[in-house]
Parts: sequence; C-alpha cells; structure tokens
Amino acid sequence: MTETTTAAGLPKGFRSAEQGWPELSRIPHPPRRLPVLGDVLGASRTKPLQDSLRHARRLGPIFRRRVFNREIVFVGGAALAADMADESRFAKHVGLGVANLRPVVGDGLFTAYNHEPNWQLAHDVLAPGFSRDAMAGYHPMMLAVADRLMDHWDREMAAGRTVDVPEDMTKLTLETIARTGFGHDFGSFERARPHPFVTAMVGTLTYAQRLNTVPSPFLLRRAARRNDRDVAYLNRTVDDLVRARTAGGAGDGDLLDRMLETAHPETGERLSAENVRRQVITFLVAGHETTSGALSFALHYLSRHPDVAARARAEVDRVWGGTAVPGYDQVAKLRYVRRVLDESQRLWPTVPAFTREAREDTVLGGVHPMRRGGWALVLTAMLHRDPEVWGADADRFEPDRFDPQAVRTRPPHTFKPFGTGARACIGRQFALHEATLVLGLLLRRYDFRGDPAYRLRVTERLTLMPEGLRLRLERRAPGADPTAPVPTGTAEGAASDVRCPVHGAAD
Ligand code: HEM
Repeated sequence: MTETTTAAGLPKGFRSAEQGWPELSRIPHPPRRLPVLGDVLGASRTKPLQDSLRHARRLGPIFRRRVFNREIVFVGGAALAADMADESRFAKHVGLGVANLRPVVGDGLFTAYNHEPNWQLAHDVLAPGFSRDAMAGYHPMMLAVADRLMDHWDREMAAGRTVDVPEDMTKLTLETIARTGFGHDFGSFERARPHPFVTAMVGTLTYAQRLNTVPSPFLLRRAARRNDRDVAYLNRTVDDLVRARTAGGAGDGDLLDRMLETAHPETGERLSAENVRRQVITFLVAGHETTSGALSFALHYLSRHPDVAARARAEVDRVWGGTAVPGYDQVAKLRYVRRVLDESQRLWPTVPAFTREAREDTVLGGVHPMRRGGWALVLTAMLHRDPEVWGADADRFEPDRFDPQAVRTRPPHTFKPFGTGARACIGRQFALHEATLVLGLLLRRYDFRGDPAYRLRVTERLTLMPEGLRLRLERRAPGADPTAPVPTGTAEGAASDVRCPVHGAAD
C-alpha cells in the first residue's frame, strides 16, 4: 500500500512521537501510565493545557504524554524552546488544535501548511495591511469602538451593576477587527447576549480542542453535528459580508479590499474566492479572541494590584495630559501600560502553546535526537514561568520585568506570546496598539474593583480566557490631577492568598 504523504514528503495526519523521536524512552512521562489508555488518570477533558502545566512542574523541561495511541512531546524549558526557535532547523508544525481547524479554514494564513502556496501569497498580500500607515488609519476606528464600550460601561456603572470583563472585551475586539478589517458592524454592544458569530466561533474552537483528547472523532458525533452547524453559520456570515462588499464597490483599502482586489506584487496572483472566505474567518477569529483574553487578564491583574494600576494611571495622565482623544503616536508612549500587558501575557499567554517540527534530522538541545518531521508542542505558558529565566518568583505579577534594562539582560526567545519565526503572529502590532490604547482609556476613566472572593480560573478553548471575571467600576474624580504623587500601597496582601490554578502560587 502506498503511504499518503504531504507535498513535503511527510506522512499525512497525526504523527505520534515515536515516529519523530528515536530515543523517546529518555523523555519522562507521568507516573501511573495505563496500558492502552495512556496517561489519562486525573486528566482534565476541558483543561488539557493546565494539566500539561502541572505535569511540566513535576517532569521538567521536556516530557511526553500519551492518550490512547497518540503520544506527544511537550517542551516547556527556556533553553529547549529557544533551540526550537532556530528557523534554520525548525518550522511551524500544523498539528493538534490547529490541524483540527483545517476543515473550517483550510489553507488560510493560520492553518496553512508551510509548503502550501497560498501561505506565501496571502502573507505577501496582507502584510502591508499591518504597516505603520495602515495602523494609523485603524486608530480612529479603534477609538470609536472603545467609546462604545465606555458608553456601555458608564450605563452599567450608573445602574449599580458589575461588568462581565471577558464578554465585554470580546464585544470590543470583535467590533474592532470587524470595523477596521472588513467595514462591518456586528452590533455587539446593542445585544444583551454575545453575537451568534461569537457563539459559533467558541463552539468551533472548543470542538477543535476536544478532538485532541478522544481516541476517535466518532465518539463526538453529536458535537460534530453541532460543529457542522457552527461552521455553516461562520461561512454564511462571511459570505454575506463579502457579497455586501462586492455589491457596494470597494471599501477604503481595508483587509477585505486587499483580499479581494490586491494582486501579489511580483507574481500578479490573487486570492481565490474560496481562500478569501478562509482568510476572512481566520482574521475575524484570530483578530479578536486572543486580544480579548489579553485585555481581560490585564484588567484582572490591574484590579488585584492597585499600586500597579495607580502607576499606570499616572503614566496615562502624564503622557496624554488633557488630550481628550489620544493620537496614534501617543499610544506607544504608554510604556508602563505596555509592561502591564506584557506581564499579563507572560503569566497567561492567550495562545498558550505552539507546535514546531524539525526541518531535517537534528538533535534538540544537543541531547534529544529528532527525525525530520518530528515535532513538539512548545508550552509558552511554561516557558514564561521558567525559573532559570524569570527567577524563583516567576509566578508573581511584576510588570517591571519588562523594564528595557531587564529585557536586555534576558536571553533571546524567552517571551513568545505571539509565536516565533516566519509563522509568528501577523497581527501583533494591531493587537498591541489596540490593547494598549484601550487599557489607557479605561485606566483614565475608571477605578476597577474586583470581588475579593474571586479566584482566577482559566477557561480553555484553544485560547485562554479568565472565567467568571466581573469588576465593579468607579468613575475617577473629574479633573484628577495628572501630576499627583503615585500611591505606593500594595495589594500584595490581598492577592497573596489567591491560588494559582497551575500550582498554587500567588497569582
Ligand atoms: C494578543 C493578541 C494575539 C495573540 C496572543 C496572538 C498570538 C498568535 C500566535 C502565538 C500565533 C502563531 C501560532 C502558531 O505558531 O501556530 C499567531 C498567528 C497568527 N495571528 Fe495572532 N495573536 C494575537 C492577535 C492577532 C490579531 C489582532 C490578528 C489579526 C488582526 C492575528 C492574526 C494572526 C494570523 C493570521 C496568524 C497566522 C500567521 C501565519 O501563520 O502566517 N492575531 N498569533
């Protein structure tokens, strides 16, 4: 029988670790491995990532887990992760949750195999959509959406209600990518419940994650039918959006215009209609779900650390002064606010892992031989807590870890919330601009009060999101003095009894 292979000559489908790691037995696995079933004792079906983090704590920088007949190697140590960032020897591996999304978005930018021609074509056509000029053009639209959020929050505050942070951040980021990228308005703030696009998206991401933990998709038949309906809804929404654009003439040069109109600068090639559909879904999903989580975690930490919030707020007052509407260039100047965001992403990177495969036979970290096509999951969330790099207090929230001096002294490839190499996030600048702007605006307008009884719990649906996070808002005194001294009190005492879901440290 001939083997089915990819264009790169590698076997198609899931490649279990024994195919890629000739000395797999040297890599530790959890104790109490069961015959046939594998490392399933105590495993969580809904929180596989947090399970893996617990294993990493016990088993070290590299370990493996088997679920039924599928074995996966995990890398969480900084030295090994840095080795895997070497683009001459490793590349993105499209596997696990990412591969499970292929039936939905195929060779869209996020899920394309490295060798698929549509990756380079779409990358080259769409990258200018994230240039400085393009970003400056998005800025006023980002401000307009942030205004809608603040109108909503003002109303909730006036009614004496707390706000649902992840839900509202999702509304904000969905509206932002829809407006800036596609000239579309989902009307999220006018709805009591999440837009059906979000419900369908969450369903699809959760299904893609669940497929990783079952021996056969056959066991998820009911979920598969629901997933088919979700995917059909995503497709319909996107087809309507594209139809409306083509019927109404060109937009203002946004991402959708680029997808529909722009030819590759060298080859003159254009994206096909099918590929445009895949890219629109990719960007609508990748462009909001992750930033929503990043903002939500940052707001959680700000509510837990009033000293940090006060310092960030003082920076906003100083840098933006009396400017009612901050300009594009004033956003990157919020250096401390950016550190808050980075530190939140360090502790809870909303894309908590990515996969890398060997381009040729190689030896990882000079110790573990790998065959060409062998792959591992890099646990970003663990890399970001490696005590060798981040110190014995790696679990503590401390934005000054991103002070430029501190950043310079750290080895490269130790902070990877946006992935690595050629396949790293194309929307990084977009996300950072949007999130910094929004945090600046919210800090300037509100004090955040968390429920002291709240303990951070993290939901997993390929991405991470705080669960059940609600904040009470208080409007800052009008005319708060931007030059007032920064309070030095700390919330450490309040926060120190909060148990980290990973291993019980203060979080
Ligand atoms: C805080 C927010 C964000 C985070 C943490 C994040 C994280 C990531 C990561 C880790 C990857 C690489 C995944 C891999 O190696 O398999 C990635 C890729 C990607 N991201 Fe983001 N992302 C964010 C925001 C955005 C935004 C705003 C957009 C679009 C507007 C976007 C679009 C994409 C796309 C299209 C890719 C695939 C790139 C390629 O393979 O060429 N992301 N992102």
